[in-house]
Amino acid sequence: MIRFTAIMQKKYFIRFLPCFLISGIITLISCNKKDFSPDETLNQVQKQLKLMQIEASAQQAIPRSVDSNGNTRWISKGLDWTEGFWPGICWLMYQVSSEENWKESAIEFQRMFADHCFDKSTHDLGFIFNNTFGKAYRITGEEMYKEVLIEATNSLVSRFNSKVGCIKSWDWGEDRWQYPVIIDNMMNLEMLFEATLVTGDTNYRDIAIRHANTTLTNHFRDDYSTFHVVDYDTLTGKAIRKLTHQGFSDSSAWARGQAWGVYGYIMCYRYTRDTTYLKAAEQMARYNMNKLPPELVFNWDHNAPSSLQTYRDASATAIFASALLELAEHTGKEEYYSTAKKILIRLSSHRYMAHPGENNFFVLKHSVGSYPENHEMDVPLIYADYYFVEALLRLRNFEQNENFD
Ligand code: GLY
Repeated sequence: MIRFTAIMQKKYFIRFLPCFLISGIITLISCNKKDFSPDETLNQVQKQLKLMQIEASAQQAIPRSVDSNGNTRWISKGLDWTEGFWPGICWLMYQVSSEENWKESAIEFQRMFADHCFDKSTHDLGFIFNNTFGKAYRITGEEMYKEVLIEATNSLVSRFNSKVGCIKSWDWGEDRWQYPVIIDNMMNLEMLFEATLVTGDTNYRDIAIRHANTTLTNHFRDDYSTFHVVDYDTLTGKAIRKLTHQGFSDSSAWARGQAWGVYGYIMCYRYTRDTTYLKAAEQMARYNMNKLPPELVFNWDHNAPSSLQTYRDASATAIFASALLELAEHTGKEEYYSTAKKILIRLSSHRYMAHPGENNFFVLKHSVGSYPENHEMDVPLIYADYYFVEALLRLRNFEQNENFD
């Protein structure tokens, strides 16, 4: 019996040795978090982004990802929901370094899609314009940026249905839904709040609040995980279907959607000081912290079966870290700060963060665009880099007790 137990222990030990080693290494890294410097990491990130800056200028195109042949995917003509992230990164790097050439690049690249502010066919205008022309106006105070921001906001508002109480997300997929609203849409509300601040017109803010309230009622499950898509009946205004487009199943928790939710509600709290949003964001954050694997980088869907769990999503993880830092700022709770920091340390390791010159000049490796469509699987994504840089900047400002945003 003793021998059997010893053999079992040995077998068990050998079988789980890699797990022990990995969690030991992660613990060591985590213990080392006092030595982690967001400034130093931002310096490393800047080296890589300068190479991307040279390449993007040579191509006169905005980077999005890497294709299955290992070539950079540049954004081609037509609106792409990710087109704002590269110039947005340039603005962030300008904030980090005060180097004029980051500002010049931001202006050069955001000019490429300025006319999309008139496009009323998508909800993604907030992602695109608030992170670019919005930042440009907030940083420089130049009126022309404000004009583009307000034009884009008006286009976004044209998609609001007062019966439903939400902005419509997509104009495609009529065979699957009538009036789809996705959790990602929470991110577009920031532009509405900003539009009220710069114009004094409270209609933008009122629409943002209606959308946030309707979404809070219909998108969340009892455990504060979120559905990806909620479909509404435009005659009754009622939610009629809850499903997924990018997650594992209708009832699963697609990781990036969860991160958009936390980020979206703590952002709404920033503009409204409505504690309903703060409490909701805290509940969502708790749900997601419980889903963080020992690896500290989310699987692409929290409920995907283990055979599909091999894909990590650095994008969801970076968005979540950035949102946690905003939660830490508003609540003063150490747990949000230390969890975000642990995540950022992990993302900064070479397993996830490329050395300068690698990874087609993107910063982070290992994200997933849309698993069900077999699209952008285990690749760098420009928005992963955007939220990673934002989170590092937030961490730096938080630790230096400076203005958070
Ligand atoms: N809004 C698109 C995405 O998160 O993939």
